[in-house]
Amino acid sequence: MVELAPSILSADFAHLADNVQAVADGGATLVHVDVMDGHFVPNITIGPPVVASLRKCTRLPLDVHLMIENPDQFIHAFVDAGADWISVHQEACIHLNRTLEVIRSLGANPGVVINPATPVETLEEVLDMVDHVLVMSVNPGFGGQKFIPATLGKVRKLAAMRAAGKASFRIEMDGGIGPDTIADAVRAGVEILVAGNAVFGQGNPRENTQRLLKLASEATLLRV
Ligand code: DX5
Ligand code: ZN
Repeated sequence: MVELAPSILSADFAHLADNVQAVADGGATLVHVDVMDGHFVPNITIGPPVVASLRKCTRLPLDVHLMIENPDQFIHAFVDAGADWISVHQEACIHLNRTLEVIRSLGANPGVVINPATPVETLEEVLDMVDHVLVMSVNPGFGGQKFIPATLGKVRKLAAMRAAGKASFRIEMDGGIGPDTIADAVRAGVEILVAGNAVFGQGNPRENTQRLLKLASEATLLRV
């Protein structure tokens, strides 16, 4: 099943509970939470207190994407706040194996993220440790950026690596996903679609969610 994870980065932060309820009503099955520290990426967003507040207003799993330096220092705090999934950047982790183990030992689902310039081969040794691999289809830091088509090749490579090995991770994609790009992502093999601007940027978040999920499910019929 293809799932949509609306990114609250583009939501109205003064009405987060309503915005999350709207996307849940539209069929979203995850909530994507972008955490930025102003160091790993050139932007600052939210921390554990917002995750704790979100936890009280939705039963959907919280998919927390850490775009921070030294993520090990904060994993406990995000798990305590209610994060269900925690993904860390390969580029930010010196001891990636240990970081992923810590996430799992605390009871959250570990995921690993790669930037557009990072080859999938750098993940080979940890693919059997993660529940999801998040392929960035923009350079992280901001919502509303243009999708980078070359990242689709990495999705196909990951799917091939999974088929050849014993790992069973799911493939997630994040950045620039909207009505014009969603079908290409699904056809390449993406199973979890993150979308911020296309859900919350304009119009009605519930209807935008429904529309994106419809396009995604139509595209699964055309998978190559
Ligand atoms: C970007 C974030 C994304 C962002 C996606 O650094 O990781 O999750 O919210 O936003 P859109 O869908 O607007 O590109
Ligand atoms: Zn993200």
